[in-house]
Amino acid sequence: MKKLSYLIVAALLLSACAKEQLPQANYDIIPQPKEVTLNEENPFELSPKTVIRYEDGLQREAQFLSEYVNDIMGFAMEIQEYQGQTDGIVLKLSPDDFDQAEAYEINITPKQVTVKGADASGVFYGIQTLRKSLPLSPSLRGVGGSKTALSCGTIRDWPNFAYRAMHLDPCRHFIPLDSVKVYVDMLAMHNMNQFHFHLSDDQGWRMEIKKYPELTEIGAYRNGTVIGHNGNLYDTIRHGGFYTQDELRDLINYAAERHINIIPEIDLPGHMQAALACYPQLGCTGGPYEVWRRWGVSEEVLCAGNEETMRFVEDVLNEVMDVFPSPYIHIGGDECPKVRWEQCPKCQAKIKELGIKGDERFSKEDYLQSYVMNRMAKVVEARGRRVIGWDEILEGNVSETAIIMSWRGTEGGIEAARKGHDVIMAPSSHLYFDYYQSEDIASEPSCIGGYLPVERVYEFQPLPEELTPEQQKHIIGVQANIWTEYIAHFWHVQYMALPRMEALTEIQWNNPKERDFEVFVERCRHMRQLYELYHYTYADHIFNPQVWADTVAPNLATRKPITLRQQPAEQYTYEGALVLNDGNLGRGAYNSGRWLGFCGYPLDAVIDLEQPAEMQHVRFHALTNKGAWIYNPSHVKVLVSDDGETFREVAQKEIPISTWADNDGIFAYELDFEPVTAKYVEVVVSGYDLPEDHSGFGNPAWIFVDEIEVW
Ligand code: ACM
Ligand code: ZN
Repeated sequence: MKKLSYLIVAALLLSACAKEQLPQANYDIIPQPKEVTLNEENPFELSPKTVIRYEDGLQREAQFLSEYVNDIMGFAMEIQEYQGQTDGIVLKLSPDDFDQAEAYEINITPKQVTVKGADASGVFYGIQTLRKSLPLSPSLRGVGGSKTALSCGTIRDWPNFAYRAMHLDPCRHFIPLDSVKVYVDMLAMHNMNQFHFHLSDDQGWRMEIKKYPELTEIGAYRNGTVIGHNGNLYDTIRHGGFYTQDELRDLINYAAERHINIIPEIDLPGHMQAALACYPQLGCTGGPYEVWRRWGVSEEVLCAGNEETMRFVEDVLNEVMDVFPSPYIHIGGDECPKVRWEQCPKCQAKIKELGIKGDERFSKEDYLQSYVMNRMAKVVEARGRRVIGWDEILEGNVSETAIIMSWRGTEGGIEAARKGHDVIMAPSSHLYFDYYQSEDIASEPSCIGGYLPVERVYEFQPLPEELTPEQQKHIIGVQANIWTEYIAHFWHVQYMALPRMEALTEIQWNNPKERDFEVFVERCRHMRQLYELYHYTYADHIFNPQVWADTVAPNLATRKPITLRQQPAEQYTYEGALVLNDGNLGRGAYNSGRWLGFCGYPLDAVIDLEQPAEMQHVRFHALTNKGAWIYNPSHVKVLVSDDGETFREVAQKEIPISTWADNDGIFAYELDFEPVTAKYVEVVVSGYDLPEDHSGFGNPAWIFVDEIEVW
């Protein structure tokens, strides 16, 4: 008897120990579930014996859960139809329990986990939450037979925005179908429900159109690509590829299973040079045109005065709608230069025929673009779909039914919401994931420029305060974009997306009022384990923050009173003049806050040394990034003064303009002069105009300077 009770006690102790050692699920995931209420009951044990039971219509969801558990824990779960059993993980539809679509509730008791959804999407997001809660560590992964403890309680969750998307551009660099599916998986993991697929551009047409086979026979390939940031050198590698309609249908089904709708974009009437290379008669000049080998904005656009061109676009859109069931069809509308239309007899005749007049806000050609966009919107709406266009389509009189995608900041979105349009916020200031994530761009894979760290994404406020609550309701969603001019491989797409997607999804799903970046980063650490599990490439800057160490040695100018005779450009002013002598150097990212930017007038800084000092040397750094319209200075002058009023020149220097054969980067400029004693020193740095071989020829170049040193 005594012996037996010892045994019982020992067994109890053992099982208690075993329980304590079970790895624990953690509901602190991304996006953060809105309501989590836990209790002290014994946790639910997820083990190889746990069965998934699904209600009618949720079989695929059950399979997803089983697959995810297998990925993480290394065992396949049995799946059965639910027939009132009181154990296992149960998936249920329960629309009456929720007041909005896509919502879910997870109820965890010691014996059973129930995932209830307002709809199948809601159940799917509940499954994503369970999946992301499971502990992931290399020692557990794939070993099979392991168990996890799920704390008991209730999780209730729902999205703030109905439209949650990312975009992908397979035109500048073709992205194979299998990789696009992985992208869809990434969206699903982040509770996104829309995928904006940009299928046509100057550099390549990517969707098979049966009525116009040349679009992919010719238009899907270019015979080389400009090297670097739009210099004068080209490689001679044929680049391209396209998706057949069957492949696209397969992709659409793949995404639909993951509750993601694919929005196709046919970008018009600009960004059409690849189509013009196939059908030159659709352009204003008749060509010839090539599938573009450069980046940027081509002046070769569709001729808006040619009925054949309009029929072509209508046919293409109809075939796109035959393949894509999407309720939204994106028809582009961005970056359409009007230089051809201004000269084209057909376009001008159309303007006359329609009685279009320019006014103080918009040219007659802007209104001609509105005519094209409105006409195509009717084609789309005739089939019960809605059009989305980039915010340029507000320039004119676009119909109120169009959804505006605000990319040049949030201003377009604000204007559109005031006018009654629905709006998707995708501003380049916060949501262009083709920008750098680190200031240390020399250590980054090359990209288009700009600086957009995870912190800045996380700060994004999609509901502008300028709008009334009623107007804010027009902001239906939030989206980030990945353009691929400088992204030639899918690993790089992933690197640009992750972990910025974590910040994006937190805004899309929760739009949190209170934001704590450090707490957020801790939750990102768990997501990182999922990236590792699925072999996703990601940027790791937020996990290993680097301490800034690029400072200059203290010199006569450091932290002395400094004034600028003319302020920098507003968007590159930051803390103002003191950026120039705070001791901190910039790195390659011109918008990191460590560089001041000037365009069209010189940097003219006066430093008060506070007492007369002997000096004979001035040095500063400037950035060259020709693709971003940033050139080296043309001319530098150093002047000194005893009273801060009368200045005398002590040194000056001409600097030759950087050519496309020269490297971009950060360069030091130094001026030596005879020793001079003075209390004030003035440095004047002038810039070039963009040269003839630059796409922005005739405009002033930018100059960016980080720090001025004097000794
Ligand atoms: C865009 O980035 N051109 C919409
Ligand atoms: Zn024309």
